[in-house]
Amino acid sequence: MNSIPSSRRRTIRSWSIGPGEAELVPIGEGVQKPLVDLASNDYLGLSRHPEIIKAAQAVLTTDGVGAGGSRFITGSRSIHYSLEERLANWLGREKVFLFPSGFQANLAAVMALADRYTPVLADRLCHHSLLIGTKASGAKLLRFKHNDLEDMEKCLRRCVNNKPKHQPLVLTESLFSMEGTSPDLAKMASICDKYGANLLVDEAHAIGILGPDGKGLSHGILGPLRMISGTFGKAFGGGGAFLATNKLIGERLLQLSGAFRYTTALAPPLAAAALASLELIIVNPDWGLELQKDANNWLTKLQHDGWKLPNVNSHILPIILGTDEEALYRQNQLEKEGYLSVAIRPPTVPEGKSRLRLAIRKNLPKKSLENVLEVLRKG
Ligand SMILES: Cc1ncc(COP(=O)(O)O)c(C=O)c1O
Repeated sequence: MNSIPSSRRRTIRSWSIGPGEAELVPIGEGVQKPLVDLASNDYLGLSRHPEIIKAAQAVLTTDGVGAGGSRFITGSRSIHYSLEERLANWLGREKVFLFPSGFQANLAAVMALADRYTPVLADRLCHHSLLIGTKASGAKLLRFKHNDLEDMEKCLRRCVNNKPKHQPLVLTESLFSMEGTSPDLAKMASICDKYGANLLVDEAHAIGILGPDGKGLSHGILGPLRMISGTFGKAFGGGGAFLATNKLIGERLLQLSGAFRYTTALAPPLAAAALASLELIIVNPDWGLELQKDANNWLTKLQHDGWKLPNVNSHILPIILGTDEEALYRQNQLEKEGYLSVAIRPPTVPEGKSRLRLAIRKNLPKKSLENVLEVLRKG
């Protein structure tokens, strides 16, 4: 532990909700000044939307705080079925299963699609949960360069030549949370099809915002895309997660998945909150588009000022700074002026690529962009 340098040590900070819609207040750190939130994944600000709170409160009263059991014992409530059905219908998938978290859903997803004979190919920057799921499945993990479909195809070709009997599984995210980048999913699916591979897409940071009416960037892709995962912990503003798949894989998951079976069902108030968020997202299809428009404006201005960002096309804008110290310096600099953006350092991102992750969210106070640019210009 002593070998962890101070610039890389993690500390847990405590927050309360600020007076402004997009503000957070650090607590227990002396001056309690509200900070404009450019760090959380509450992209649509739904975590404190009155309709979501009301929906959670209503189910809290009727069904209690927790489910008290797994889905197969006593944990299933009507709110779980309502949410699963509504999501399946919205996404055009045959089956949806709820999970207490996206991390757990990803473990279940990989384990449902891979066993120890499956070659699993994952984007080099895939989320930790997908990698742990692969490990738990006993499958052999191969990595391809980030969003590089030529490299992916090369790996696939090698797998199919070496192990012609075993269907490979490809893992990716539709929007990479620390990069703001997305793969060409349609092309990816067609390459998977060519090699008989299955595809699993984690829509954690896109669902509710990106793709047609916020249905995710993989929406409309079928064939090799066997399953998508999504979380309610980000744009939905709540907690919990889901997997959406076809009937056949759904039945396999239901019968065999330990990650689904051996866990307390999603807390009913969280299921109610997720359903209320979904209904709001459905009736406000412009929210995602407006957010993208705002984010594009931020991107253009940041690039104009000379900041280096990946090939971004989303509301996640990482400013690549290089050293941990520089990223921490910029975090502190912004914080002093009332803006919260967190320094992201290895092992979350590769060595030498520490960054400031700006997550653009709905209803930021006026002049946020101008103010942030001005602070960053100070050097
Ligand atoms: C890409 C991705 N997938 C899955 C998860 C896990 O989701 P949850 O927070 O619901 O466990 C996260 C959150 O960190 C994520 O960024």
